[in-house]
Amino acid sequence: MHLHGTSTINKDGHLEIGGCDTKQLASQFGTPLYIMDEALIRQRCREFVEAFRATGMPFQVAYASKAFCVMAMCRIVEEEGMSLDVVSDGELYTALQAGFPAERIHFHGNNKTPYEIEMAIDAGIGCFVVDNFVELHMVNAIAGEKRQRVKVLLRLTPGVDAHTHEYISTGQTDSKFGFDMENGSARQAVQEASSAPNLELLGIHSHIGSQIFEVGGFQLAVEKMTAFTVAMRDELGVTFSVLNLGGGFGIRYVEGDTPLAVGEYVRAITDTVREQFTQHAYPLPEIWIEPGRSIVGDAGTTLYTVGTYKDIPGVRKYVAVDGGMTDNPRPALYEAKYEALLANRASDQADELVSIAGKCCESGDMLIWDIELPQVQSGDLLAVFCTGAYNYAMASNYNRLRRPAVVFVKDGHADVVVERETYGHLVQNDVVPERMKPVTKTR
Ligand code: LLP
Repeated sequence: MHLHGTSTINKDGHLEIGGCDTKQLASQFGTPLYIMDEALIRQRCREFVEAFRATGMPFQVAYASKAFCVMAMCRIVEEEGMSLDVVSDGELYTALQAGFPAERIHFHGNNKTPYEIEMAIDAGIGCFVVDNFVELHMVNAIAGEKRQRVKVLLRLTPGVDAHTHEYISTGQTDSKFGFDMENGSARQAVQEASSAPNLELLGIHSHIGSQIFEVGGFQLAVEKMTAFTVAMRDELGVTFSVLNLGGGFGIRYVEGDTPLAVGEYVRAITDTVREQFTQHAYPLPEIWIEPGRSIVGDAGTTLYTVGTYKDIPGVRKYVAVDGGMTDNPRPALYEAKYEALLANRASDQADELVSIAGKCCESGDMLIWDIELPQVQSGDLLAVFCTGAYNYAMASNYNRLRRPAVVFVKDGHADVVVERETYGHLVQNDVVPERMKPVTKTR
């Protein structure tokens, strides 16, 4: 079994994370429970920042908060000296409530509303990553009304698909995100943005995909973005000072996933930028990246209690836990794979093949198909690893399940950073029209 970060198996045979016995965490906080290994989150932040520092090039590492956006996480990101990406008013609000410095916030998204744009300008965010012409005009207009000049990057689709072996896919043109580099849209966007009175065009952005295990796609994106940068200088006399290469750095969910060390991605990107820009006698830009999953993914473990099970002889044994697609929709949505162990019997021999079902009324609510575990009993604790990214962030109240608590564990201490939802939370926004109110009988 591959254990991440500070996870170990203690002398009682219990899984321990951040010096906390998970069996104790379960009895203290209940299950399902998201447990985040704070030291591992900080380690990943530092790996990115230090890899950039070592290159001597100017940079910003912006955590893509969509992966896991809660106020305590924003605090860590600030403390680690990083920037923050948000994609909605809700993420922006969370960051501001956490006291995150607005000037280090970058606003993404393909459909920012006028309200979101106003809110972000009023807050004084660092920049908008502008996605399309409608937004370009809207940001310029709203900034003008507020007599402000706002910084922007333009999101481009560089025609690099990180998931094919050739890295190139013309199909990338067919994307809801960004200005197309091949059909002239990107060039026109540069023309418009650089002449818009209320915009300061800092540079360009690309994001080539997620869960990427190789550097080739990033290198090719750098080449294409450099060629475009040089062309804009030569053809339009417009220069860029920022090159943002997005996120997508892969992590190990299961055996067979082969991510590179953080430093290797960073070095491949910075080396290629240096080489390409130098070759074209272009001043080196500031390099920005936006890791999400690779900062928080493997720091998260979800702890469940096993309830019922059902053996279908000759077919399979289903073991059901007290959560499921509500706290982790990724298996149902993307056929994502996870590893797990019994947290209260972590040293026991895994000798039974079972499948882990969630408790939602839906056959597709399966967390893991076919995993070897010790003979499971009701009341056992199941720890599913690598749930730090896009789990809490994508959780729902389907079947009116209450979203779990999130705890940060470190050096033997556990701090709740998100409380478990209560029944009250479930109905707090419900309104029963007066005419439907239950009649109170009077005697
Ligand atoms: N920057 C941009 C512009 C993005 O669109 C994304 C992710 C990131 C950065 C961060 O990517 P990461 O480093 O986390 O791979 N819900 C899906 C993932 C969607 C990612 C969307 N964009 C999942 O659960 O796998």
